[in-house]
Amino acid sequence: MTKKILVLPGDGIGPEIINEAVKVLKVVDSKFDLALELDEALLGGAAVDATGVPMPEETLTKAKAADAVLLGAVGGPKWDKIETANRPERGLLGIRSNLKLFANLRPAILYPQLADASSLKPEIVSGLDILIVRELTGGIYFGQPRGIRTLENGEREGFNTYVYSESEIRRIAHVAFDLARQRNRKVCSIDKSNVLEVTVLWRDVMEEVAKEYPDVELSHMYVDNAAMQLVRAPKQFDVLVTGNMFGDILSDEAAMLTGSIGMLPSASLDINGKGMYEPCHGSAPDIAGQGIANPLATILSAAMMLRYTFKEGEAADAIEQAVSKVLDQQLRTADIWSEGMQKVSTSAMGDAVIAALQAS
Ligand code: IPM
Ligand code: MG
Repeated sequence: MTKKILVLPGDGIGPEIINEAVKVLKVVDSKFDLALELDEALLGGAAVDATGVPMPEETLTKAKAADAVLLGAVGGPKWDKIETANRPERGLLGIRSNLKLFANLRPAILYPQLADASSLKPEIVSGLDILIVRELTGGIYFGQPRGIRTLENGEREGFNTYVYSESEIRRIAHVAFDLARQRNRKVCSIDKSNVLEVTVLWRDVMEEVAKEYPDVELSHMYVDNAAMQLVRAPKQFDVLVTGNMFGDILSDEAAMLTGSIGMLPSASLDINGKGMYEPCHGSAPDIAGQGIANPLATILSAAMMLRYTFKEGEAADAIEQAVSKVLDQQLRTADIWSEGMQKVSTSAMGDAVIAALQAS
């Protein structure tokens, strides 16, 4: 059976990094006989320019028909002035919510070769392997009502709604606990239950679900403390589970522990394991078109896709090992470069991963 992948290059460095991931996918496809079938569509600013909207119908139809989606990144200053409802980011949020991709997995793993690239001391981060499970289709990102209104006194007021239903919380809790079972059996749920009712409920439901997993240890932490603990002693964590906005913020922070956000892949899954895979980083418009972006997060996202959606663990392992091998060879894009290492371009990095794959 063919495996249908929809590729969405997006904006900024998106097309450059996607190009490398697609090169790598074609090589593993023939090496492991995966029968991959790749198609492409527009999302984000590129879609706004071509069609006037960030998520064209055609893209959504193709995404629904695909088994998995591989995304580069969306957004950029060019589209910053567009009204909120038509911004490139809305295309991304639209795909996430239309495909019901509620479970966002963001692993933060420090490659030993990159211990020096982290801004934290090597002893704090060496061996780091944590997984952030972020709820992706609810919370304040999607809550209604939302908007900017003018009050009677003429002053404008902006408002959003932070809302989670029990079933939404339960669903993401199960994902976190199930994944903890494949790891170190610890879940830390992040909330702000000292202030926000929605997260009082969040904490309650986490406790309830935990009863079904007596072999997994559940702890709770306020988000402000979690932000601090992540830089103080990140290795205390195994799986962190949290809502959409806290997860957005903490995953950027966790990414930096690993040296560069340019290394981190992510998976966004629906209830059946269908998924969209994308690097955690953004479209980096400041370096777009220069051929210096790090393609490894996107290449590793493609590996996650093979593992989670297609259950092709061997092919996923091969990609991850090839990435580790190019780091051993001291090849570095600018974001992870340090004295004595060899600085390479986006495409040279992709080629090196392919060479390592072919040699294995
Ligand atoms: C992310 C990004 C997105 C988010 C933006 C681009 C809408 O920051 O995937 O973390 O906030 O979810
Ligand atoms: Mg983010």
